[in-house]
Amino acid sequence: MSLLLKDKIIFLTGGSMGIGFECAKKYKEAGAKVIVMANDAASLEQCIKELGEEHCTVLGDVSVSVDVQSAIELGLKKYGRIDVIHNNAGIASPSKPLHETTDAEWQKVFDVNLKSILFTTRFSIEALKQSQGCIINTSSMVGEIGQDNHAAYTATKGAINTLTKSMALDYAPFKIRVNAVAPAAVWTPMLREWGKEQKDAERIEKYMDEIHPLGYCPEGDVVADACVFLASDMSRFITGCIMPVSGGAELGYRRMSL
Ligand SMILES: NC(=O)c1ccc[n+]([C@@H]2O[C@H](COP(=O)([O-])OP(=O)(O)OC[C@H]3O[C@@H](n4cnc5c(N)ncnc54)[C@H](O)[C@@H]3O)[C@@H](O)[C@H]2O)c1
Repeated sequence: MSLLLKDKIIFLTGGSMGIGFECAKKYKEAGAKVIVMANDAASLEQCIKELGEEHCTVLGDVSVSVDVQSAIELGLKKYGRIDVIHNNAGIASPSKPLHETTDAEWQKVFDVNLKSILFTTRFSIEALKQSQGCIINTSSMVGEIGQDNHAAYTATKGAINTLTKSMALDYAPFKIRVNAVAPAAVWTPMLREWGKEQKDAERIEKYMDEIHPLGYCPEGDVVADACVFLASDMSRFITGCIMPVSGGAELGYRRMSL
């Protein structure tokens, strides 16, 4: 890949594993320096080993304002600028319909998946105005089409889609673009955990392949390539876009073997 992101500084949440880690590696390959914030010390350690010391990792919780503030300040101190904020950290649990969801479960998934975007935006907006940078939100196809047994999670992703468009409007005067990527399913630690929670766990792999008309459930590299595009000047006239990276999962009625 050419150096589409040469010298860009990217603040990436949830970049220590899964989709985020694939993004971190592709951002590096494309010439960027990456600040990875995540709440898991062990995977962060692996992450910095793989990325190298010119990048940096910060342990913290994206749903805690002061953690996000200090992570962004650390990035600004180290690199002097931020060009891209990628809000990727997210949780999918609980696997429940709405009436079974507890107040605490509801609050947690909204804080991690949604309030975190308020915090990263609040603390980076001046830097983004200076760099005329961009924001990428990791949404999900279920934010558009819904999903059974995941009421709270899907509500956060639907909210991210609308929020992405409103942010795109608010920040366009500053030449800050705001877009989202919407994968269907992607093999990551999160999806593997989710699979184990399902009552038909042994059939999940086949089901995951079949929901994608292109024939397979991908790894995070497919999402990362889309994010490199959205972070780069190649997408300089694209804002407010919720980009499906879904192998066509949302398209039409289909017969599946299950
Ligand atoms: N895997 C899928 O099938 C899939 C599909 C559509 C959308 N997504 C979305 O992609 C994003 C990444 O998912 P994944 O499957 O790679 O997840 P994952 O569980 O494999 O990795 C999640 C990452 O986020 C971090 N994280 C979680 N909670 C955090 C918190 N409170 N503070 C800081 N960091 C936190 C973890 O440390 C980890 O680095 C999520 O927003 C998810 O909703 C995933």
